[in-house]
Amino acid sequence: MRIDIITVLPELLKSPFEASILKRAIEADLVEVHFHNLRDYTSDRYKSIDDTQFGGGAGMVMMVEPIDKCISALKAERDYDEVIYMTPDGNTLNQGIANQLSLQENIIILCGHYKGVDQRVRDQFITREISIGDYVLSGGELGAAVLCDAVIRLIPGVLGNETSALTDSFQDNLLAPPIYTKPREYKGWKVPKLLFSGNLPEIEKWREEQAYLRTKERRPDLLDD
Ligand code: ADE
Repeated sequence: MRIDIITVLPELLKSPFEASILKRAIEADLVEVHFHNLRDYTSDRYKSIDDTQFGGGAGMVMMVEPIDKCISALKAERDYDEVIYMTPDGNTLNQGIANQLSLQENIIILCGHYKGVDQRVRDQFITREISIGDYVLSGGELGAAVLCDAVIRLIPGVLGNETSALTDSFQDNLLAPPIYTKPREYKGWKVPKLLFSGNLPEIEKWREEQAYLRTKERRPDLLDD
């Protein structure tokens, strides 16, 4: 998979890709991540990427031209499955969207700033708009990092244990059940006995029940779908 991220603040985005699972995925060639600084696609001496709104109103708007130049240059090199715009008015990211995107070959992610991008960018280029939640960030970069993390860990081979992504919360519309490790007892706080009984079918049944109970209590909306 190849991910091209278009941003005015590449330095804000880079560190998540330089540590941990994302770094290993890149080093293992399971994913390529490229950053493109929008200011490299400007044509004036001030490297302007934004201007005031037509019709008046507070806040700057990201201009069409640098974004067009950047996306068109990328598209001239290869086909893209999705051109994603990070924006608070997009579809809220969930595990289903992450699963879909993890199957794609090439994607572009455009990070918005200020009031956002000129609507013509959205009309002409964007195939999907994604929000990471109902709050406003100062730019799309942190959202793009969240999206990339959620997607990249699903690419086969990225996680050590192939099954571990399948047992995550949300993969079956349920939250994950409680988990425990050694010691069996700490300060009198005990691990449920069943978990070291060796009775795998009973343990599996217990986990399913716990996942259901936790979901019913914390996220009943997930059970409605
Ligand atoms: N840009 C600003 N706020 C955002 C959000 N909530 N999700 C994605 N991109 C954003």
